[in-house]
Amino acid sequence: MLKIVVLVSGGGTNLQAIINRAADGSLGDIKITSVISNNPGVKALDRAAQAGIPAEVVCPRDYADRAAFNDALLQTVRKTEPDLVVLAGFLVAIPPAMVQAFPNRIINIHPSLIPAFCGKGFYGLKVHEAVLARGVRVTGATVHFVDEGTDTGPILLQQAVRVEANDTPEILQRRVMEEAEWVILPQAISLIARGLVTVRDGRAIIGEDEK
Ligand code: GAR
Repeated sequence: MLKIVVLVSGGGTNLQAIINRAADGSLGDIKITSVISNNPGVKALDRAAQAGIPAEVVCPRDYADRAAFNDALLQTVRKTEPDLVVLAGFLVAIPPAMVQAFPNRIINIHPSLIPAFCGKGFYGLKVHEAVLARGVRVTGATVHFVDEGTDTGPILLQQAVRVEANDTPEILQRRVMEEAEWVILPQAISLIARGLVTVRDGRAIIGEDEK
């Protein structure tokens, strides 16, 4: 069984998508053993409680400095003994020590087609604002493994989404979530749970598609 810890910061709609797909059995032999949030009082924590998943808050404000927070976050994740760490709208820079502790075992969902509209400062609604400002016709979402850079790790899955003439950042965000994020994040977990993903030479390989 693949034991998963999900890290969240806010609304938790991606967490919900994983919970729903796990509940209908379509993700294979997995269990969400824990949810960790850097923010207290967010809806993602309600969603975890509703699903009966133990949750913890590790909030930067409760620590003397960033190093102490990073250490507490790593210890909290370690305690859950995960096979896979899923960043589902976790808007905190992942400390290098965490990447080293879980090499190729952390995945992230990003709301654009990487390498466009990603990196430092591109998160949440800001991504969709930048997409609209640039006037691209197609955007989407990406699931990637987490390395020590920002949004630079091996790409596992991507799904394109059309941009419409009258989109606002909020409307576009919702379409990207519905048509891409909530589909490919559970799908990525399912592929990993089935042992179909390997990382070689900095690239993610699915099944036997590239030998
Ligand atoms: C999602 O759109 C996710 O892709 C994005 O934050 C949102 C969280 O929504 N993540 C990033 O921007 C990471 N760089 P949710 O809490 O409802 O899942």
